[in-house]
Amino acid sequence: MNPGREFQLSDQQFGWVCKHVKDRTGITLNDTKRNLVHNRLSSRVRSLGLADFDGYFALLDRADSEELEEFVNAITTNVTSFFRENHHFEFLRDTALPEAMARNAGRRRVRIWSAGCSKGMEPYSIAMVAKEVIPDNAGWDTKILATDLDTKVLQVGRSGVYGIEAAEAIGDDRLRRFVRRGRGANEGQIRMMPELQQMISFKHLNLMETWPLRGPFDVIFCRNVVIYFDRPTQATLWSRFAKLLAHGGYLFMGHSESMLGDATFEPIGRTMYRKIGDG
Ligand SMILES: C[S@@+](CC[C@H](N)C(=O)[O-])C[C@H]1O[C@@H](n2cnc3c(N)ncnc32)[C@H](O)[C@@H]1O
Repeated sequence: MNPGREFQLSDQQFGWVCKHVKDRTGITLNDTKRNLVHNRLSSRVRSLGLADFDGYFALLDRADSEELEEFVNAITTNVTSFFRENHHFEFLRDTALPEAMARNAGRRRVRIWSAGCSKGMEPYSIAMVAKEVIPDNAGWDTKILATDLDTKVLQVGRSGVYGIEAAEAIGDDRLRRFVRRGRGANEGQIRMMPELQQMISFKHLNLMETWPLRGPFDVIFCRNVVIYFDRPTQATLWSRFAKLLAHGGYLFMGHSESMLGDATFEPIGRTMYRKIGDG
């Protein structure tokens, strides 16, 4: 308890939040996240004009609560940037996409999934690389599925509009080819070109629930998402990804994530895994 706080969150209430978040999102919260959770949920309690957390949790407990979406949005951590962990994009350009094109030469189809795409910088980075590697007029059907649990970040992704400071990570050549700078009222913003937007479908999808997806995907990016999931939840996810990956397809993870002893995947270094088994 902290008497200076506008709303008090007891140990028992924090336990309730942890359980609900784990059940709904797979995210395991611990005491180091307590302040962050307290701050973010306090702002929900305040904007709803409620007296305390008990009132808020009662609202969430109602089966049809629209607030559940806001609750989940408030808990997720959405840090992202263009070309984050750039070695994945270099590998995509030099190896994963050329291999996918050789494998799919007959169907001329390439499919990539950005699972936990946040505000869309990851799928737009993938789209820029795909545009560079796959010839425009050779009849290739290239699609990127971008999914997230958080509905607010998906709106940003669909808009394709970002603050100018995000441009720094893109590089001059790509900025010239794929990005437009805002003018007048849109000064200080950048906008992704429609040719990139057309390649990406942003969809709401909770990795803990069933996936209405058929695959096969040539590459799955699931980076900086499972860091808050426990090991059994992660292991279940790897085998579900394996089922949707093409044989020889790749799974990329975040810098602090790893896969332990899954026979379906071969580690190929720097948080990249190749599907070798049947999944
Ligand atoms: C830190 S961001 C990472 C974004 C991007 N992949 C990157 O590496 O830059 C993690 C994203 O995972 C999403 N996420 C967390 N749990 C999820 C779940 N159960 N299902 C789908 N997305 C989830 C969050 O909403 C958040 O946008």
